[in-house]
Amino acid sequence: MKGILLAGGSGTRLYPMTLAASKQLLPVYDKPMIYYPLTTLMLAGIRDIMIISTPADLPQFKRLLGDGSQFGVRFEYREQPTPDGIAQAFLIAGEWLKGSPCALVLGDNLIFADHLSALLQKAGKIEKGATVFAYQVRDPERYGVVSFDETGKALTVEEKPPEPKSNWAITGLYFYDDRVYDFARKVKPSARGELEITDLNRFYLEEGTLQVDRLGRGCAWLDAGLPESLMQAGQFVHTIQARQGMLVGSPGEVAFRMGYITADQLRTHAAKMGKTELGRLLKELADHGDQG
Ligand code: G1P
Repeated sequence: MKGILLAGGSGTRLYPMTLAASKQLLPVYDKPMIYYPLTTLMLAGIRDIMIISTPADLPQFKRLLGDGSQFGVRFEYREQPTPDGIAQAFLIAGEWLKGSPCALVLGDNLIFADHLSALLQKAGKIEKGATVFAYQVRDPERYGVVSFDETGKALTVEEKPPEPKSNWAITGLYFYDDRVYDFARKVKPSARGELEITDLNRFYLEEGTLQVDRLGRGCAWLDAGLPESLMQAGQFVHTIQARQGMLVGSPGEVAFRMGYITADQLRTHAAKMGKTELGRLLKELADHGDQG
């Protein structure tokens, strides 16, 4: 399975912070935002990753992430010339995908959960259909919303409905089978002129192959799209790291734990972090292995 990390958009809800900088490069406590969704893909076992961003921002992502070898993965970079919707990512990636199944994660989505890796690797094994994740929120009208029948089967998916049929939001992490490119080509622009990811999901729903996994109490899903949620995400990461001494959203750590890089490679990566706490924790992991 391949993975797409979509880091486009103009981040208007974070102005003026995003007037001159990409939203997905803003700090979430001690790391750039994009590190978090990147680790989500890596935890799913995905090592071929396309990063899609605006022509103005793409060079900055290349500078931050390189070719992926430091994390034992391969990065490809593509421009999204105009922000025409999330489903457009599959059209941009079409040739690179070569009919492969594909996961997509949005560059501002942070997911933390117990056993996340197992959950993601299961989703990554789908042969036919799609898997998305739902999370209960107070403000579903801001998101894609899924409703269920009494047996728990997904009934409807709607993009930012003014009157949501449930409070289950669909998170910005999606797993699709090898037909995703063909389905994406069938998506028509919505009233706001975008190729909606929810319309792509509806194709699978209507076919009866959309699997919706509900994320429960032990999970945190944060999107860092508003000043308040950006701050909450940073505080969340800080709380866990400070309290437990465990890293959250570190691609170096995940690469090492997943066996993508050796202890020596991790040490080199840690050295690049200078005298930071992150660098210290990574070096400790490289020197002493897994304590957790
Ligand atoms: C997008 C999707 C929406 C999804 C959300 C998750 O919305 O369109 O379905 O629930 O991401 O973050 P956006 O954040 O682009 O408004």
